[in-house]
Amino acid sequence: MAHPAVTQDIAEPTAAELIAARAHLSMHAMDGLVLEGVPLNAIADAMDTPVWVYGGGTARLRYRRLAAALDGLQTHIHYAVKANDHLAMLRVFAREGAGADVVSEGEMLRAIAAGVAPDRIVFSGVGKTARDLRAALGHGIAQINVESPAELQMLSAIATEMGRTATIVLRVNPDVDAGTHAKITTGRADNKFGVPAAEAVALYAHAATLPGIVPVGIALHIGSQILSLAPYHAAYARAAALVRELREAGQYVSRVDCGGGLGIGYGDEAGASPEAFAGVLRKAFGGLDVSLMIEPGRWLVGPAGVLLASVVLVKGAGRFVVLDAGMNDLVRPAMYDAWHGIVPLSAVDILRPTSLVDIVGPVCETGDTFARNRALAPLRAGARVAILDAGAYGAAMSSTYNARPLAPIAMVDGAHWATIRERQPHAAMWAGESIPDFIG
Ligand SMILES: Cc1ncc(COP(=O)(O)O)c(C=O)c1O
Repeated sequence: MAHPAVTQDIAEPTAAELIAARAHLSMHAMDGLVLEGVPLNAIADAMDTPVWVYGGGTARLRYRRLAAALDGLQTHIHYAVKANDHLAMLRVFAREGAGADVVSEGEMLRAIAAGVAPDRIVFSGVGKTARDLRAALGHGIAQINVESPAELQMLSAIATEMGRTATIVLRVNPDVDAGTHAKITTGRADNKFGVPAAEAVALYAHAATLPGIVPVGIALHIGSQILSLAPYHAAYARAAALVRELREAGQYVSRVDCGGGLGIGYGDEAGASPEAFAGVLRKAFGGLDVSLMIEPGRWLVGPAGVLLASVVLVKGAGRFVVLDAGMNDLVRPAMYDAWHGIVPLSAVDILRPTSLVDIVGPVCETGDTFARNRALAPLRAGARVAILDAGAYGAAMSSTYNARPLAPIAMVDGAHWATIRERQPHAAMWAGESIPDFIG
């Protein structure tokens, strides 16, 4: 099932199959659904719903599997903070030795606050502001991934003014279709990212002449939720060719930042294999004498998070199951037609006969729909469900639309759990607002 849409009609995995395929989840007769060693009902009892739960142990294991696959490849992992920017999640990876890939001053400050050393941080992004660049240079981060001639010029001026040197790589657009959802494809010529490969050699040479700039390599990132290795093969072959071309032109090239994008199985499809991905890196860059960086986000944290919600009511003769979580919490189904597994927290509800229902949120938009025609046992008001694989681009993309406070977050690690973010108090939503006197 490649990037299934919310409306798909093909056979979908059952709740029991979804749980069986996820090592961090298990169903217990009395406790219901358990994440790592903690019954999710215990967290929902204590924190109410909607509530996010992250498996810190699961994220750590995934990091270790990826790191092991890359062993011997001279590759540094820079976790893409945008996928899940919670301090505790950042700390899990920092303790494993990961660096961070950030795209804003805020993400950089979050990473530093969580304990990532600035010299392990790389700064990506197509529209870095002068303020972003000043902050990056001020904190002495490892690398800035430059995406345009205009950014290069601005960075040189700022670095010179600050008396700093910016170590940069040039983000190249390899014009490869990653075969993923159009909204998360980034490496095609008609996407806004990077500089066209044909212009890279000249721009790199220009960068090398600019004051305050030291170019050391190239970067590319072709998209997210990539399940096939073919686009990686194509993009990295182009990157390797560009490294050779730059060197032939007399440039110094010591790194290639290969970006992120490894996909996960949201349904019953297999996620990307880190071992196979490492094989692609080896084939493209082995023997080229470059150090490699990767920027995975979703693959590390996606499966490690769930969003717990309660049924508010059922309407339409049983057709609509209305949850207390909405698109403001998890926007992926509304934004990308993304498919997420939804399973009851109660063991009894897994076993009962199912009927097809639409699982929706309370927000005033028809797009606030988590699933259509989903086979679930009839759920009564108060029954709880877990929306699976919500650890990436979940809470990080939440909003307070409809003046719905940001949901709280818990982190589990084995048998331990703790609240890692309180539910946002209502007044905090308007804490920075003011009403000018002239309004009366
Ligand atoms: C430059 C860059 N690196 C890394 C990532 C992380 O991607 P993913 O979460 O798919 O691994 C993104 C996300 O779009 C990105 O834009």
